[in-house]
Amino acid sequence: EQVWRKQMRDAHRLVADLYHEVLMKTEAGEVGLTYLRNRDLTEETIAQYRIGFAPDQRRFTVELLERRGFDLEVMVEAGLISKSKSGEYFDRFEGRVVFPIADRDGTIVGFSGRAIDDRQPKYVNTAETPLFNKSELLFGFSQARATMRKKKRVFLVEGNVDVLQVAQAGIQEVVASLGTAFSPQHARALSRIVEEVIICYDGDHAGQEATQKVIRLLESSPLDVQILPLPEKTDPDDYIRQHGGTHWQQFVETEQLSVLDFMNRMLRRGKNLNREGERIRFIESMLEEIGKTNDSIRRDLYVKKLSDEFEIPLETLRSRIPRPTSSES
Ligand code: UTP
Ligand code: MN
Ligand code: MN
Ligand code: MN
Ligand code: MN
Repeated sequence: EQVWRKQMRDAHRLVADLYHEVLMKTEAGEVGLTYLRNRDLTEETIAQYRIGFAPDQRRFTVELLERRGFDLEVMVEAGLISKSKSGEYFDRFEGRVVFPIADRDGTIVGFSGRAIDDRQPKYVNTAETPLFNKSELLFGFSQARATMRKKKRVFLVEGNVDVLQVAQAGIQEVVASLGTAFSPQHARALSRIVEEVIICYDGDHAGQEATQKVIRLLESSPLDVQILPLPEKTDPDDYIRQHGGTHWQQFVETEQLSVLDFMNRMLRRGKNLNREGERIRFIESMLEEIGKTNDSIRRDLYVKKLSDEFEIPLETLRSRIPRPTSSES
């Protein structure tokens, strides 16, 4: 194996350990710890996810790596530090709370850094590197692994802090994709371990759009998909902090929707079903969704529901269910 690859891994472990120590034990880290406490995160959670703080210094990490004999060019390639046009090395996550991101085996390969003041952007993440492939990595995967295996399910959330809060509320089987779209590789990695994915994205328009994308992506996978719709303008972190972990546990068990129930709700939104044209369009869209459902019992139940609600004979509806084309993307 290449020497530089091992260097990149070793450097990530060293930097993660040090950031964690700065957060937990030093004065420089106090602002970070206060920030996390104000977000109701416990030291146990902080330790479990090995959260850290990168001191607000331009060359803290650069100097650490240099002292330990790491090749700084390799460190830039690893995304641990940056290099200016004039050739100067400088820190990448300075002044941020850092969440280490590990691969499947728990080896740290990148970081996500949250600003604790109003500096922009809110999150700085490791860019694509030889070790860090966003479309394969999931935040929280290694911590969630054992419980995912046992419970055969996983909760998919948008943000790192959502992962932390959900886990802290006692649901350890939770992961987030890293500020990017959920990918086919993510789906494949999860389908090796779980049978069911429960999507709990933010309760805003972006979250709903993203939910529909995940649904589309998982249509062709063997995974069973459920959706947990969150209240408007709320993410799991907000919900848990407003209502508490016990309430959340109840909420996730009682409020899950099937894909068809979720789509039913989405497609009705903003339509006046008393109008014939809109009613027909709604029914056609629902039939299209029904056509994508692999489960024939669920399909029949839904056709029956539509038939009852709109007083259209079952056979008419059935004959209008589009057949899924097998060559779809
Ligand atoms: P959100 O905007 O929902 O952030 O983005 P959040 O997770 O609720 O963050 P907090 O609660 O304010 O800390 C969801 C995810 O998108 C990515 C991050 O991974 C974030 O957790 N993101 C967001 C970025 O990568 N960059 C950004 O500037 C913002
Ligand atoms: Mn969001
Ligand atoms: Mn199920
Ligand atoms: Mn959010
Ligand atoms: Mn949030």
